[in-house]
Amino acid sequence: MTVRILGIETSCDETAAAVVADGWRVESNIIASQHDLHRRYQGVVPEIASRAHLERINPVIDEALRAASAAWPDLDAIAVGNRPGLIGSLMVGVSAAKAVAWATRKPLIAVNHVQAHLYSATMSWPGRALGLSEENLYPALGLVVSGGHTSLFALHSPAELTLLGKTIDDAVGEAYDKAAVILQLGYPGGPLLDELAQTGDPRRFHLPRSLLAPDSLDFSYSGLKTALLYQVRGLPQGRGHDATFSKSAADLSSSDRADLAAAFQNAAIDTLFLKLDRALDHLATQARPSRSILIGGGVSANSLLRQRAAELAQQRNLEVLLPPMPLCLDNAAMIAGFAFHRFQSRSFDDLHLPAIATTLR
Ligand code: KG4
Ligand code: ZN
Repeated sequence: MTVRILGIETSCDETAAAVVADGWRVESNIIASQHDLHRRYQGVVPEIASRAHLERINPVIDEALRAASAAWPDLDAIAVGNRPGLIGSLMVGVSAAKAVAWATRKPLIAVNHVQAHLYSATMSWPGRALGLSEENLYPALGLVVSGGHTSLFALHSPAELTLLGKTIDDAVGEAYDKAAVILQLGYPGGPLLDELAQTGDPRRFHLPRSLLAPDSLDFSYSGLKTALLYQVRGLPQGRGHDATFSKSAADLSSSDRADLAAAFQNAAIDTLFLKLDRALDHLATQARPSRSILIGGGVSANSLLRQRAAELAQQRNLEVLLPPMPLCLDNAAMIAGFAFHRFQSRSFDDLHLPAIATTLR
């Protein structure tokens, strides 16, 4: 019997709802982006995000059902990303999910957004279509690369994971967004920087890779961002908010801009793969070798990351799984997909379910 779950996701600035069958067949995946609302601030404004979620959540859920040709009785459960994220944004999704679960008498399942990003990498695994068990992928090494997270995990199953390392300052997606502001590329910055980087020469400028201690599995991106800032604007005169710079991004030629974007992209992605290599070796020496690598989160859409992932798969003779493009950025299909495992073990939540801003990094 098919298990069909409605997923709801509102942790940041995308209002999303999706219907997923049996944990992987995406029957609809509706995402209402708020980029236009936040563009003038060059970042997500939490209060604007939560108000926009409120206006959009009901039409987005209706559209997800319509696109899946599903009616309420066709659903087996309601899943919602309830942690981590912006508290006001999360509360809108959690309230909507509770209302739907109560009104339809369906079970409610709370999902961790970070675990769902990792799980999204498995949803298009070709083994599924061949009827192979998902257990073949575990133990896995997981890497979450998003606007809020840059974390490595040892995964024993989709829901059981141990944190191996995380960023000690900026997340990689956040560094992309800040670098795009420094280069004055527009909003949202990550995809625009990625596009420009593909036209530049990554060897003309050298930007640093923060590897930290020789065996560290943590990340640091604030030094890379500052190095780019100084490359673009020169060394600051004075300190803090009073600092002045001798140059501005407006002085850059278009090839300077593309070459700096390429140098940034190379340094940012290099670091991820150096740490993946370190983590694979670390787990192997502990007699916990990984059978696959799962990479999820918005930066998994990055062109260089996807190319390097394919190379790593070849070098290590491992499956390196990435989400298909529509599941890279925040979406509700990954929420509904992950919830299938909780549904199978009949592990449900009740109407006291809280929204939680911070948790597992
Ligand atoms: O997972 P996500 O949608 O939201 C969070 O959970 O944070 O990730 C959004 C992040 C943003 O920082 C965005 O700039 C970045 O993913 N991103 C990219 C690309 N597409 C999105 N970064 C680099 N290259 C891309 N192609
Ligand atoms: Zn996310």
